[in-house]
Amino acid sequence: MKVETLEIENFRNYGRLKVNFDDKVNIFIGKNAQGKTNLLESIFYCCIGKSFKSCKDKELINWDSDAARIKMTTKKTYRTVTVEARLFRSQKKIIKLNNLPIKRMGELIGETNVVFFSPQELKLVKESPDERRKFMDIDISQSNKRYFYQLTRYEKILQNRNKLLKISKSLDAVKETIDIWDRALVTSAKLLATERQKFITQILPYAQKAHSYISGGKEVLDLKYVCGCNTPLDETFEEKMEKLLKKNLEKDYKLGYTSIGVHRDDIDIFLNGVEVKNFGSQGQQRTVALSLKLAELENMFNLNGEYPILLLDDVFSELDKERQARLIKFVGRTQTFITCTDEKEIKGVVYNIQGGKIQKITKNL
Ligand SMILES: Nc1ncnc2c1ncn2[C@@H]1O[C@H](COP(=O)(O)OP(=O)(O)O)[C@@H](O)[C@H]1O
Ligand SMILES: [Mg+2]
Repeated sequence: MKVETLEIENFRNYGRLKVNFDDKVNIFIGKNAQGKTNLLESIFYCCIGKSFKSCKDKELINWDSDAARIKMTTKKTYRTVTVEARLFRSQKKIIKLNNLPIKRMGELIGETNVVFFSPQELKLVKESPDERRKFMDIDISQSNKRYFYQLTRYEKILQNRNKLLKISKSLDAVKETIDIWDRALVTSAKLLATERQKFITQILPYAQKAHSYISGGKEVLDLKYVCGCNTPLDETFEEKMEKLLKKNLEKDYKLGYTSIGVHRDDIDIFLNGVEVKNFGSQGQQRTVALSLKLAELENMFNLNGEYPILLLDDVFSELDKERQARLIKFVGRTQTFITCTDEKEIKGVVYNIQGGKIQKITKNL
Protein backbone atom coordinates (compact mmCIF):
# COMPACT_ATOMS: atom_id res chain seq x y z
CA MET A 1 0.00 0.00 0.00
CA LYS A 2 1.09 3.54 -0.72
CA VAL A 3 0.09 6.74 0.99
CA GLU A 4 -0.73 9.20 -1.80
CA THR A 5 -1.75 12.33 0.05
CA LEU A 6 -1.81 13.65 3.56
CA GLU A 7 -3.70 16.69 4.74
CA ILE A 8 -3.06 18.12 8.17
CA GLU A 9 -4.74 20.87 10.11
CA ASN A 10 -3.54 22.00 13.55
CA PHE A 11 -1.90 18.69 14.41
CA ARG A 12 1.06 19.20 16.84
CA ASN A 13 3.25 22.04 15.51
CA TYR A 14 1.62 22.03 12.06
CA GLY A 15 -0.87 24.53 10.76
CA ARG A 16 -2.47 23.59 7.50
CA LEU A 17 -0.78 21.56 4.82
CA LYS A 18 -1.30 19.07 2.04
CA VAL A 19 1.47 16.84 0.67
CA ASN A 20 1.67 14.24 -2.05
CA PHE A 21 4.11 11.44 -1.44
CA ASP A 22 6.32 9.34 -3.63
CA ASP A 23 5.53 5.65 -4.04
CA LYS A 24 8.97 4.62 -2.89
CA VAL A 25 11.17 6.56 -0.48
CA ASN A 26 10.25 9.88 1.14
CA ILE A 27 12.99 11.56 3.14
CA PHE A 28 12.26 14.33 5.60
CA ILE A 29 15.24 16.41 6.58
CA GLY A 30 15.24 19.03 9.30
CA LYS A 31 16.89 20.21 12.48
CA ASN A 32 15.64 19.10 15.89
CA ALA A 33 12.15 20.02 17.05
CA GLN A 34 10.92 21.05 13.60
CA GLY A 35 8.14 18.49 13.23
CA LYS A 36 9.69 15.41 11.60
CA THR A 37 8.47 12.92 14.20
CA ASN A 38 5.12 14.72 14.36
CA LEU A 39 4.61 14.11 10.65
CA LEU A 40 5.23 10.36 11.02
CA GLU A 41 2.94 10.39 14.04
CA SER A 42 0.10 11.82 11.95
CA ILE A 43 0.50 9.01 9.39
CA PHE A 44 0.66 6.38 12.14
CA TYR A 45 -2.46 7.84 13.74
CA CYS A 46 -4.47 7.32 10.54
CA CYS A 47 -3.36 3.68 10.45
CA ILE A 48 -3.81 2.64 14.08
CA GLY A 49 -6.09 5.27 15.59
CA LYS A 50 -3.62 6.31 18.24
CA SER A 51 -0.11 7.71 18.54
CA PHE A 52 3.03 5.60 18.83
CA LYS A 53 3.85 7.75 21.86
CA SER A 54 1.93 7.00 25.01
CA CYS A 55 0.00 10.24 25.00
CA LYS A 56 -3.57 11.44 25.06
CA ASP A 57 -5.30 12.39 21.83
CA LYS A 58 -5.74 15.95 23.10
CA GLU A 59 -1.96 16.41 23.28
CA LEU A 60 -1.91 16.00 19.49
CA ILE A 61 -3.99 19.12 18.95
CA ASN A 62 -1.98 22.26 18.28
CA TRP A 63 -1.65 24.26 21.48
CA ASP A 64 -3.32 27.31 19.93
CA SER A 65 -6.26 25.39 18.47
CA ASP A 66 -9.38 23.63 19.70
CA ALA A 67 -9.39 20.90 17.08
CA ALA A 68 -7.08 18.98 14.76
CA ARG A 69 -7.73 17.12 11.55
CA ILE A 70 -5.70 14.61 9.55
CA LYS A 71 -6.81 13.06 6.31
CA MET A 72 -4.83 10.38 4.54
CA THR A 73 -5.47 8.68 1.24
CA THR A 74 -3.81 5.35 0.60
CA LYS A 75 -3.80 3.28 -2.53
CA LYS A 76 -4.01 -0.45 -2.03
CA THR A 77 -3.78 -3.07 -4.74
CA TYR A 78 -7.51 -3.24 -5.37
CA ARG A 79 -8.92 -0.10 -3.75
CA THR A 80 -8.26 3.28 -2.23
CA VAL A 81 -8.69 3.89 1.49
CA THR A 82 -9.35 7.31 2.96
CA VAL A 83 -9.04 7.89 6.67
CA GLU A 84 -10.01 11.15 8.29
CA ALA A 85 -9.47 11.78 11.99
CA ARG A 86 -10.84 14.82 13.77
CA LEU A 87 -9.75 15.49 17.33
CA PHE A 88 -11.39 17.99 19.65
CA ARG A 89 -10.56 19.45 23.03
CA SER A 90 -14.14 19.36 24.24
CA GLN A 91 -15.72 16.34 22.59
CA LYS A 92 -14.99 12.80 21.46
CA LYS A 93 -12.91 12.26 18.35
CA ILE A 94 -14.51 11.37 15.04
CA ILE A 95 -12.83 8.94 12.68
CA LYS A 96 -14.15 8.44 9.19
CA LEU A 97 -13.24 5.55 6.97
CA ASN A 98 -14.01 6.23 3.31
CA ASN A 99 -16.16 9.16 4.42
CA LEU A 100 -18.29 7.14 6.87
CA PRO A 101 -17.84 7.59 10.63
CA ILE A 102 -16.70 4.41 12.36
CA LYS A 103 -18.30 3.14 15.56
CA ARG A 104 -15.49 0.96 16.85
CA MET A 105 -11.72 1.32 16.46
CA GLY A 106 -11.62 -2.23 15.15
CA GLU A 107 -13.13 -0.95 11.91
CA LEU A 108 -10.04 1.17 11.28
CA ILE A 109 -7.34 -1.30 12.22
CA GLY A 110 -5.96 -3.31 9.31
CA GLU A 111 -7.18 -0.87 6.65
CA THR A 112 -3.79 0.79 6.25
CA ASN A 113 -0.97 -1.28 7.69
CA VAL A 114 2.09 0.30 9.17
CA VAL A 115 5.41 -0.55 10.81
CA PHE A 116 7.12 2.14 12.86
CA PHE A 117 10.72 2.15 13.97
CA SER A 118 12.73 4.70 15.98
CA PRO A 119 15.70 4.55 18.35
CA GLN A 120 13.20 4.48 21.24
CA GLU A 121 12.01 1.11 19.97
CA LEU A 122 15.03 -0.32 21.71
CA LYS A 123 12.66 -0.58 24.65
CA LEU A 124 11.05 -3.44 22.77
CA VAL A 125 14.12 -5.52 23.57
CA LYS A 126 15.29 -3.87 26.77
CA GLU A 127 12.31 -2.87 28.85
CA SER A 128 9.32 -4.46 30.54
CA PRO A 129 7.15 -7.18 28.91
CA ASP A 130 4.54 -4.47 28.35
CA GLU A 131 6.44 -3.29 25.29
CA ARG A 132 6.64 -6.77 23.81
CA ARG A 133 2.93 -7.38 24.34
CA LYS A 134 2.18 -4.06 22.64
CA PHE A 135 4.37 -5.17 19.75
CA MET A 136 2.43 -8.43 19.37
CA ASP A 137 -0.95 -6.73 19.79
CA ILE A 138 -0.45 -3.94 17.27
CA ASP A 139 1.04 -6.32 14.75
CA ILE A 140 -1.46 -9.18 15.03
CA SER A 141 -4.45 -6.81 15.12
CA GLN A 142 -3.44 -5.32 11.78
CA SER A 143 -3.91 -8.64 10.01
CA ASN A 144 -6.60 -10.05 12.26
CA LYS A 145 -9.53 -7.91 13.41
CA ARG A 146 -10.96 -10.76 15.49
CA TYR A 147 -7.81 -10.66 17.59
CA PHE A 148 -8.29 -6.94 18.21
CA TYR A 149 -11.89 -7.45 19.39
CA GLN A 150 -10.87 -10.43 21.52
CA LEU A 151 -8.17 -8.35 23.18
CA THR A 152 -10.69 -5.65 24.10
CA ARG A 153 -12.95 -8.37 25.47
CA TYR A 154 -10.15 -9.91 27.54
CA GLU A 155 -9.25 -6.54 29.02
CA LYS A 156 -12.86 -5.97 30.06
CA ILE A 157 -13.18 -9.39 31.67
CA LEU A 158 -9.89 -8.89 33.51
CA GLN A 159 -11.02 -5.48 34.77
CA ASN A 160 -14.24 -6.98 36.08
CA ARG A 161 -12.45 -9.85 37.76
CA ASN A 162 -9.93 -7.49 39.37
CA LYS A 163 -12.72 -5.21 40.53
CA LEU A 164 -14.46 -8.14 42.20
CA LEU A 165 -11.19 -9.11 43.94
CA LYS A 166 -10.71 -5.56 45.15
CA ILE A 167 -14.17 -4.59 46.36
CA SER A 168 -15.37 -7.87 47.89
CA LYS A 169 -15.60 -7.89 51.69
CA SER A 170 -14.49 -11.51 52.04
CA LEU A 171 -12.96 -14.39 50.11
CA ASP A 172 -16.30 -16.21 50.38
CA ALA A 173 -18.04 -13.30 48.71
CA VAL A 174 -15.53 -13.49 45.84
CA LYS A 175 -16.13 -17.23 45.46
CA GLU A 176 -19.86 -16.66 44.92
CA THR A 177 -19.48 -14.88 41.59
CA ILE A 178 -15.92 -15.42 40.35
CA ASP A 179 -16.76 -18.51 38.27
CA ILE A 180 -18.36 -16.60 35.40
CA TRP A 181 -15.35 -14.34 35.11
CA ASP A 182 -12.92 -17.25 35.30
CA ARG A 183 -14.69 -19.12 32.54
CA ALA A 184 -14.80 -16.07 30.29
CA LEU A 185 -11.17 -15.27 31.05
CA VAL A 186 -9.80 -18.70 30.14
CA THR A 187 -11.74 -18.87 26.86
CA SER A 188 -10.47 -15.47 25.83
CA ALA A 189 -6.93 -16.16 27.09
CA LYS A 190 -6.72 -19.31 24.99
CA LEU A 191 -7.66 -17.51 21.79
CA LEU A 192 -5.14 -14.73 22.43
CA ALA A 193 -2.33 -17.03 23.51
CA THR A 194 -2.85 -19.22 20.44
CA GLU A 195 -2.60 -16.22 18.11
CA ARG A 196 0.46 -14.85 19.90
CA GLN A 197 2.25 -18.16 19.74
CA LYS A 198 1.38 -18.46 16.06
CA PHE A 199 2.68 -14.93 15.46
CA ILE A 200 6.05 -15.66 17.09
CA THR A 201 6.41 -18.85 15.05
CA GLN A 202 5.57 -16.91 11.88
CA ILE A 203 7.96 -14.00 12.40
CA LEU A 204 10.91 -16.03 13.69
CA PRO A 205 12.34 -17.05 10.29
CA TYR A 206 11.89 -13.51 8.92
CA ALA A 207 13.51 -12.00 12.01
CA GLN A 208 16.43 -14.44 11.76
CA LYS A 209 16.92 -13.62 8.11
CA ALA A 210 16.75 -9.86 8.66
CA HIS A 211 19.06 -10.14 11.65
CA SER A 212 21.69 -12.13 9.86
CA TYR A 213 21.46 -9.73 6.91
CA ILE A 214 21.80 -6.54 8.99
CA SER A 215 24.46 -7.88 11.34
CA GLY A 216 26.45 -9.70 8.69
CA GLY A 217 25.44 -13.17 9.85
CA LYS A 218 27.54 -13.55 12.94
CA GLU A 219 24.91 -14.58 15.48
CA VAL A 220 21.70 -16.56 15.50
CA LEU A 221 18.54 -14.91 16.79
CA ASP A 222 15.88 -16.91 18.59
CA LEU A 223 12.46 -15.93 19.94
CA LYS A 224 10.32 -17.74 22.45
CA TYR A 225 6.74 -16.95 23.32
CA VAL A 226 6.29 -17.07 27.10
CA CYS A 227 2.67 -17.49 28.10
CA GLY A 228 1.65 -15.82 31.36
CA CYS A 229 -1.09 -18.40 31.94
CA ASN A 230 1.47 -20.98 33.13
CA THR A 231 -0.57 -23.60 31.31
CA PRO A 232 0.39 -25.73 28.27
CA LEU A 233 -1.36 -24.55 25.10
CA ASP A 234 -3.26 -27.74 24.26
CA GLU A 235 -6.80 -29.08 24.52
CA THR A 236 -6.60 -29.17 28.32
CA PHE A 237 -5.73 -25.46 28.49
CA GLU A 238 -9.10 -24.11 29.62
CA GLU A 239 -9.63 -26.71 32.31
CA LYS A 240 -6.09 -26.39 33.63
CA MET A 241 -6.01 -22.62 33.65
CA GLU A 242 -9.36 -22.49 35.45
CA LYS A 243 -7.95 -24.80 38.11
CA LEU A 244 -4.90 -22.61 38.43
CA LEU A 245 -7.08 -19.52 38.85
CA LYS A 246 -8.91 -21.30 41.68
CA LYS A 247 -5.63 -22.33 43.27
CA ASN A 248 -4.38 -18.74 43.17
CA LEU A 249 -7.65 -17.21 44.33
CA GLU A 250 -6.62 -16.52 47.90
CA LYS A 251 -3.37 -14.95 46.73
CA ASP A 252 -5.16 -12.89 44.07
CA TYR A 253 -7.68 -11.71 46.66
CA LYS A 254 -4.87 -10.47 48.89
CA LEU A 255 -3.11 -8.83 45.93
CA GLY A 256 -6.32 -7.32 44.60
CA TYR A 257 -5.56 -8.41 41.03
CA THR A 258 -5.26 -11.47 38.78
CA SER A 259 -1.74 -12.90 38.88
CA ILE A 260 -1.92 -15.22 35.88
CA GLY A 261 -3.17 -14.65 32.35
CA VAL A 262 -2.09 -13.37 28.95
CA HIS A 263 -1.68 -9.90 30.46
CA ARG A 264 1.56 -11.38 31.86
CA ASP A 265 2.82 -12.74 28.52
CA ASP A 266 6.31 -12.01 27.27
CA ILE A 267 8.74 -12.82 24.47
CA ASP A 268 12.20 -14.12 25.38
CA ILE A 269 14.83 -13.00 22.90
CA PHE A 270 18.15 -14.78 22.49
CA LEU A 271 21.36 -14.34 20.50
CA ASN A 272 23.37 -17.56 20.27
CA GLY A 273 21.34 -18.85 23.21
CA VAL A 274 22.05 -15.86 25.48
CA GLU A 275 19.23 -13.57 26.59
CA VAL A 276 19.59 -10.20 24.84
CA LYS A 277 17.56 -8.22 27.35
CA ASN A 278 20.04 -8.69 30.18
CA PHE A 279 23.26 -9.60 28.43
CA GLY A 280 23.19 -7.98 24.99
CA SER A 281 25.21 -4.89 24.15
CA GLN A 282 23.40 -1.72 23.06
CA GLY A 283 24.41 -2.47 19.48
CA GLN A 284 23.08 -6.03 19.62
CA GLN A 285 19.82 -4.86 21.15
CA ARG A 286 19.42 -2.23 18.44
CA THR A 287 19.98 -4.73 15.64
CA VAL A 288 17.52 -7.16 17.20
CA ALA A 289 14.84 -4.48 17.56
CA LEU A 290 15.31 -3.48 13.93
CA SER A 291 15.17 -7.12 12.80
CA LEU A 292 11.87 -7.62 14.59
CA LYS A 293 10.44 -4.61 12.80
CA LEU A 294 11.67 -5.80 9.41
CA ALA A 295 10.22 -9.21 10.17
CA GLU A 296 6.85 -7.53 10.66
CA LEU A 297 7.07 -6.17 7.11
CA GLU A 298 7.68 -9.57 5.59
CA ASN A 299 5.10 -11.29 7.74
CA MET A 300 2.40 -8.76 6.87
CA PHE A 301 3.23 -9.17 3.20
CA ASN A 302 2.90 -12.90 3.59
CA LEU A 303 -0.46 -12.63 5.36
CA ASN A 304 -2.05 -9.78 3.41
CA GLY A 305 -0.35 -9.91 0.02
CA GLU A 306 0.70 -6.28 0.45
CA TYR A 307 3.57 -4.59 2.21
CA PRO A 308 2.68 -2.17 4.98
CA ILE A 309 4.08 1.34 4.91
CA LEU A 310 7.33 1.75 6.80
CA LEU A 311 8.12 4.69 9.06
CA LEU A 312 11.78 5.09 10.07
CA ASP A 313 12.28 7.90 12.55
CA ASP A 314 15.87 9.03 13.06
CA VAL A 315 17.10 5.49 12.58
CA PHE A 316 20.09 6.09 10.36
CA SER A 317 22.09 8.21 12.78
CA GLU A 318 22.26 5.21 15.10
CA LEU A 319 23.68 2.74 12.59
CA ASP A 320 27.17 2.44 11.20
CA LYS A 321 27.66 2.99 7.44
CA GLU A 322 27.58 -0.71 6.59
CA ARG A 323 24.32 -1.32 8.44
CA GLN A 324 22.83 1.85 6.92
CA ALA A 325 23.59 0.52 3.43
CA ARG A 326 22.07 -2.88 4.26
CA LEU A 327 18.94 -1.31 5.70
CA ILE A 328 18.47 0.86 2.61
CA LYS A 329 18.60 -2.19 0.38
CA PHE A 330 16.03 -3.92 2.54
CA VAL A 331 13.80 -0.86 2.56
CA GLY A 332 13.47 -0.75 -1.22
CA ARG A 333 10.56 -3.20 -1.27
CA THR A 334 7.96 -0.95 0.37
CA GLN A 335 6.90 2.70 0.57
CA THR A 336 9.11 4.22 3.24
CA PHE A 337 9.14 7.47 5.19
CA ILE A 338 12.51 8.37 6.62
CA THR A 339 13.41 11.26 8.89
CA CYS A 340 16.96 12.50 9.51
CA THR A 341 18.80 15.64 10.50
CA ASP A 342 21.17 15.73 7.54
CA GLU A 343 21.29 14.39 4.04
CA LYS A 344 22.01 10.72 3.61
CA GLU A 345 23.05 8.76 0.57
CA ILE A 346 19.57 7.42 0.08
CA LYS A 347 17.63 7.58 -3.15
CA GLY A 348 14.26 9.18 -2.73
CA VAL A 349 12.19 12.33 -2.76
CA VAL A 350 13.56 14.85 -0.29
CA TYR A 351 11.46 17.25 1.77
CA ASN A 352 12.68 19.97 4.08
CA ILE A 353 10.89 20.37 7.38
CA GLN A 354 11.23 23.60 9.28
CA GLY A 355 8.97 24.96 11.98
CA GLY A 356 5.99 22.85 10.97
CA LYS A 357 6.31 23.66 7.26
CA ILE A 358 7.17 21.19 4.52
CA GLN A 359 8.94 21.94 1.30
CA LYS A 360 9.59 19.39 -1.39
CA ILE A 361 13.13 19.96 -2.63
CA THR A 362 14.38 17.42 -5.10
CA LYS A 363 13.78 14.14 -6.66
CA ASN A 364 17.03 12.56 -5.63
CA LEU A 365 16.86 9.50 -7.89
N1 LIG B 1 0.38 19.91 20.56
C1 LIG B 1 1.38 20.64 20.10
N2 LIG B 1 1.17 21.90 19.62
C2 LIG B 1 2.19 22.64 19.13
N3 LIG B 1 3.48 22.22 19.10
C3 LIG B 1 3.74 20.99 19.56
C4 LIG B 1 2.72 20.14 20.08
N4 LIG B 1 3.30 18.99 20.48
C5 LIG B 1 4.62 19.10 20.20
N5 LIG B 1 4.90 20.30 19.67
C6 LIG B 1 6.21 20.83 19.23
O1 LIG B 1 6.70 20.04 18.18
C7 LIG B 1 8.11 20.10 18.18
C8 LIG B 1 8.73 18.72 18.15
O2 LIG B 1 8.45 18.15 16.96
P1 LIG B 1 9.09 16.77 16.54
O3 LIG B 1 8.30 16.28 15.40
O4 LIG B 1 9.25 15.89 17.70
O5 LIG B 1 10.52 17.32 16.08
P2 LIG B 1 11.66 16.56 15.29
O6 LIG B 1 11.78 17.31 14.00
O7 LIG B 1 12.86 16.73 16.14
O8 LIG B 1 11.25 15.14 15.11
C9 LIG B 1 8.54 20.72 19.48
O9 LIG B 1 9.00 22.02 19.22
C10 LIG B 1 7.28 20.74 20.30
O10 LIG B 1 7.27 21.80 21.17
MG1 LIG C 1 12.12 13.47 16.00
